[in-house]
Amino acid sequence: MKIRKQCALVALQDVKAYLNEEGGQIAVFDATNTTRERRDLILCFVKENAYKVFFVESVCDDPEVIAENILVMNVGRQFLVNRIQDYIQSKIVYYLMNIHVHSHSIYLCRHGESDHNIQGRIGGDSELSSRGKQFAHALRDFIEEHKLSDLKVWTSQLRRAIQTAEELGVPYEQWKILNEIDAGVCEEMTYEMIQNTFPEEFALRDQDKYHYRYPGGESYQDLVQRLEPVIMELERQGNVLVICHQAVMRCLLAYFLDKSADDLPYLKCPLHTVLKLTPVAYGCKVEMFYLNVEAVNTHRDRPLVSKTFSMQPVLVWHVSTACKGYIDLRPVAFVTFGR
Ligand code: G3H
Repeated sequence: MKIRKQCALVALQDVKAYLNEEGGQIAVFDATNTTRERRDLILCFVKENAYKVFFVESVCDDPEVIAENILVMNVGRQFLVNRIQDYIQSKIVYYLMNIHVHSHSIYLCRHGESDHNIQGRIGGDSELSSRGKQFAHALRDFIEEHKLSDLKVWTSQLRRAIQTAEELGVPYEQWKILNEIDAGVCEEMTYEMIQNTFPEEFALRDQDKYHYRYPGGESYQDLVQRLEPVIMELERQGNVLVICHQAVMRCLLAYFLDKSADDLPYLKCPLHTVLKLTPVAYGCKVEMFYLNVEAVNTHRDRPLVSKTFSMQPVLVWHVSTACKGYIDLRPVAFVTFGR
């Protein structure tokens, strides 16, 4: 017990260093704070440092459920919420109410190759190329082969995604918020055209792709916020196939694989490839299936930019917390979990 208490005190010093010296805004203190004495100790620590505290307690008294990963009271059967004081605390509760521990897989893919893909144009609402249609057929076979009978299928509201889903012969739902990133004035242009027409914009995007917002359009950061309801619903559901777009798939992948905002816009999401994500304890198992239908490569590698701009530690830190901001836990100073 003495050693355990010492460990807890050392962890609290880490919390302090993180919040006071390293620019942290929220710390999660995950410990067995089951005694009044221990909770008093935490409250004293919080008061001394003028932090805010929010306790999240997971209670489980069902022997069958104890064997499962313990998250909330009997894994979602009941929630007891007291004195929620601010937006962030309510977001934490919202998130915990939506997650579950049942085994499920999320299948992510892009629409089949489109006419715009072949021309190297971004955005727009073009139709599938003939290889794109072949991919849609291959995707139907994939679903059959993997016996994904209870599968939900979601698409964006863009034609190339809908045409892909139509070939599957199963019901599907269209989500407007799954539409591709809005490239504003650059919609339907090739990268070369953008570079020639808007050279400054092109360079700015290369300097900070996650935060860069197309004039009249969106940034990846905007897209992450737009996708929050989809992510929450993916957390709630069983097996789902999401037929989406390059930028959208990067955002979803980054959430499940815990990628930083700096890496997110450069994640490789090739056409005609299905990624199967299966949440497991402390991570996500990833399986990749290339469906053997050729397609153009639409990936543009990270350009070499000035190190002084891209590698500032402060910038990188903000970037990576922003990425985790799907459930936006940032502004809370201190949170403790007790079992
Ligand atoms: O603009 C549409 C693309 O799918 C996103 O690609 O962010 O690498 O330019 P990009």
